[in-house]
Amino acid sequence: MNLYNKVVKYVDDTFGGKKSHFERAVYWYGKFIPNITEAHKIAAYAHDIERGINGEKDRDYLNREFYIAHSEKGAKIIGEFLEKNGADIETINKVKHLISKHEVGGDTEQNALMDADSISYFETNAEYFVKNRIKEDGYEKIKGKFDWMFNRISSDEHKKFARENYEKWSKELEKYK
Ligand SMILES: [Fe+2]
Ligand SMILES: [Fe+2]
Repeated sequence: MNLYNKVVKYVDDTFGGKKSHFERAVYWYGKFIPNITEAHKIAAYAHDIERGINGEKDRDYLNREFYIAHSEKGAKIIGEFLEKNGADIETINKVKHLISKHEVGGDTEQNALMDADSISYFETNAEYFVKNRIKEDGYEKIKGKFDWMFNRISSDEHKKFARENYEKWSKELEKYK
């Protein structure tokens, strides 16, 4: 099994086989990164590994520090996994670099992963937040999450790919106000 497939299996096992958010993140990242490498694909598929390992309780969606901690812990977790699985140091460092800023952005490639994550979020996760997560978290928190996920997208060009779903799920969310 190649390294990427090992990561896919690790992420799938960790998340109980919920693949769509990660597959769509890889898809969009491939659109934004010319000559996408294995390291880029690994970063896109495994970007939320922290959430899979540590669970989804008490997600502080309105706090920037929460997102930074989630990203940095995820970089560490995947770095250790890659090391155990014999990845070379360049790949390990690249993946860690990309995941460590996937929520807040940084350089062009970190921004592109953040954008791919947001676009994928509105395709694959937003519905669940409107219909299920709202029961625990309430309207304000979900609204905050939606606005954060859309507004952080680093260019108007990339926002185009998320806008329709952002508007659709934001409208749906108003029913729960
Ligand atoms: Fe994340
Ligand atoms: Fe994500």
